[in-house]
Amino acid sequence: MTTVGTCPYPFGDPVRLDVHPSYARSRAEQPAMRVRLPYGDECWLVTRYSDVKTVLSDSRFSRARAAGREDTPRVTPEAAPAGSILSMDPPEHSRLRRMIARGFTARRVREFRPRTQEIVDGLLDEIERVGPPADLVERLALPLPVSVISQMLGVPPAEHHRFRDFSAMVLSTTAFTREEVVAARAGLEEYLGELAEQRRRVPGDDLMSALVAAHDDDRLSEQELRQTGITLLVGGHESTASQFASSVYLLLSRPERWALLRERPELVPSAVEELLRFIPLGSGGAFARYAVEDVQLGEVLVRAGEAVVASTNSANRDDRVFADPDEFDLTREHNPHLAFGGGVHVCLGAQLARGELQVALESLLTRFPDLRLTTPAEEVPWKEGTLLRSPRELPVTW
Ligand code: HEM
Repeated sequence: MTTVGTCPYPFGDPVRLDVHPSYARSRAEQPAMRVRLPYGDECWLVTRYSDVKTVLSDSRFSRARAAGREDTPRVTPEAAPAGSILSMDPPEHSRLRRMIARGFTARRVREFRPRTQEIVDGLLDEIERVGPPADLVERLALPLPVSVISQMLGVPPAEHHRFRDFSAMVLSTTAFTREEVVAARAGLEEYLGELAEQRRRVPGDDLMSALVAAHDDDRLSEQELRQTGITLLVGGHESTASQFASSVYLLLSRPERWALLRERPELVPSAVEELLRFIPLGSGGAFARYAVEDVQLGEVLVRAGEAVVASTNSANRDDRVFADPDEFDLTREHNPHLAFGGGVHVCLGAQLARGELQVALESLLTRFPDLRLTTPAEEVPWKEGTLLRSPRELPVTW
């Protein structure tokens, strides 16, 4: 790569699960480069695993400095709002994270596994009852994480639709107008306000009731309560749904990999990790960080006040860390991927998501061993203009 000036970023519109070749060139020749995103100021893009890890985990990089700023480099029309856990630095971040983490202890997540299995079984029963063909996005990938996060937060099933449609809009890059995104966020905030009120009147053993109690004890502001609810509802289902749909697409478009898993189901946990590494889920440039002091990243000095975007998709293909990184290897053993981020903001729902992905994949393999796409893989339609890659529909038969 010979570019020394500013390069437009993302490098191009996402094509299915392809990783743009510019990432490999950047890692080899210019691992920290100047880029311009669709919104906000120019910034640095870092692409090597070690630099990405530094940006995510070094306290000299701040998320709080990006909150609510119009000049923050980003792919979404709206800047990240203040009050969200993702837009905080320690110690505020640590306080909020401790509070939410109580809902995600290893014990609570373990307890959710049988419930996840029940939800998956119910969805697969229904798919079987209706018969082929089926759209796995609508029938499994989406309803599973929606049900799981709703049960955790205490959202009644009849109200799932209240956040499902808004969620897709909030994650839009170009699919919806700025006004629509603003209206969707307002709709989600209103819904979260109502949900909090319901849980205040009738508290339950759910995370929302615990957050409402924390708010009423003055440990959580109203803004933090609503933003946390939104982050959990949206983050808790859109990413898992997109990851699962993309995973099944990838396995069915390489039927020999599906067959391998069918014959060796004990590989499902490592397969889920490899799918997390290999699938470039985010379309890039979601959460810029600002340097609070000068930081040397390889040959580049990032000055205090400059913004940096760290590409985990690129880090996950770095051959300094992963052997044959462009190989989709379900038996890979050394796999310290960054699909769940790193540092203080590392995904709070990682264990829950892993559980959902493992249970759903294992059950799908057992119940539908001959599952296959009804169309050639290149004809599967993909979502466009949104932060997370996912097939829009996944038509299968068995
Ligand atoms: C395959 C599924 C998922 C993926 C790939 C994923 C990915 C991520 C990533 C990369 C981050 C860090 C962002 C950053 O630092 O810039 C993150 C943060 C977060 N995720 Fe997930 N996530 C998934 C599922 C979930 C689920 C199921 C939940 C909740 C139930 C969840 C809740 C959160 C929360 C609350 C944060 C913010 C943590 C903080 O700021 O301290 N995620 N996720």
